[in-house]
Amino acid sequence: MNILVTGGAGYIGTHTMVKLLENNHTVVCVDDLSNSKYIAVERVEKITGKKVKFYQNDIRDREALRKVFSENKIDAVINFAGFKAVGESCAKPIEYYDNNIYGMLVLLEVMREFGVKNIVFSSSATVYGNPHKVPITEDFPLSTSNPYGSTKLFIEYILKDLYASDKSFNIAILRYFNPIGAHPSGLIGEDPNGIPNNLCPYITKVCVGKLPHVNVFGNDYPTHDGTGVRDYIHVEDLAEGHVLAVNKLADNPGLIIVNLGTGTGYSVLDMIKAFSKALGKEVPYKIGAHRPGDIPTCYADPTYAENLLGFKAKKSLEDMCKDALNWQLKNPDGYVE
Ligand SMILES: NC(=O)c1ccc[n+]([C@@H]2O[C@H](COP(=O)([O-])OP(=O)(O)OC[C@H]3O[C@@H](n4cnc5c(N)ncnc54)[C@H](O)[C@@H]3O)[C@@H](O)[C@H]2O)c1
Repeated sequence: MNILVTGGAGYIGTHTMVKLLENNHTVVCVDDLSNSKYIAVERVEKITGKKVKFYQNDIRDREALRKVFSENKIDAVINFAGFKAVGESCAKPIEYYDNNIYGMLVLLEVMREFGVKNIVFSSSATVYGNPHKVPITEDFPLSTSNPYGSTKLFIEYILKDLYASDKSFNIAILRYFNPIGAHPSGLIGEDPNGIPNNLCPYITKVCVGKLPHVNVFGNDYPTHDGTGVRDYIHVEDLAEGHVLAVNKLADNPGLIIVNLGTGTGYSVLDMIKAFSKALGKEVPYKIGAHRPGDIPTCYADPTYAENLLGFKAKKSLEDMCKDALNWQLKNPDGYVE
């Protein structure tokens, strides 16, 4: 299939483009490079030995998007384009609603205009709010506590309403848990701007001496060691999930909503220990206060993904740490153009 990957130059997009190309799909990438660099797309081409047709466009630019659809026969779209920092979304809610929700609306309108009815959307486990129990199945109640999460939840509503109005759409809503790690080549990986918001890129920055220590936000949660527990999934497994989802859309499944996680939760201290092992020395950390809004435990029930898509995360925590560290050691300043 010819797949349009919006936001494809970013962290999950680059890894997904690699897997799509390796599975003999062709890829058109639209990215405005607001949170990425073009060199990441070149690295995808280097890994796969295949070409990516690239357009530097904002998906809210309707005319530019129409040009992409008129120049390429697109079979399916995977939309990664969006802003993703929870803290920033609280400071800039209008920018988040505009980019994430309006961007999705423009994309859907142009898809409809060109008769493209297959789409995969990057949702997040954040739509489960503070879950009443774990593991989390797809039918759990939904809620959000910040503008970023609200954009994900509203887009899910938009996609459900769209499907209710037009059953010829095939829509896969993928709710990611916590993607980490990098391609084993060390050519592509996560490259956050400034000080990372997420735990793992923060730890790898500490590992390479760019930050002094890891801040652990609270050690009195009701978990096995008191620190927060999350479902970390190797980004390569997550990328594989997108290939399975896009292939599934070709069977006309209608609207599907699927967790992409491993089903195993690791605490912050487990992660620090695992990275210390990969590094061969202790990663320094300091225990601090809780962060407002953080929840104690979050991990997926991945059964439905396995039954519906044949998806099963294969990579271990050791692989995730080794690959994340390899990327950071080879690219201590991220992508440098
Ligand atoms: N990384 C995570 O932990 C995580 C977890 C759950 C969900 N998600 C979602 O997955 C998607 C991809 O995440 P990521 O970690 O790869 O983020 P990322 O920031 O690395 O990638 C997003 C890409 O979209 C581009 N972009 C942003 N707005 C755009 C626009 N209007 N038009 C065109 N391009 C635009 C950015 O330049 C970037 O390359 C996001 O929607 C994010 O919310 C990520």
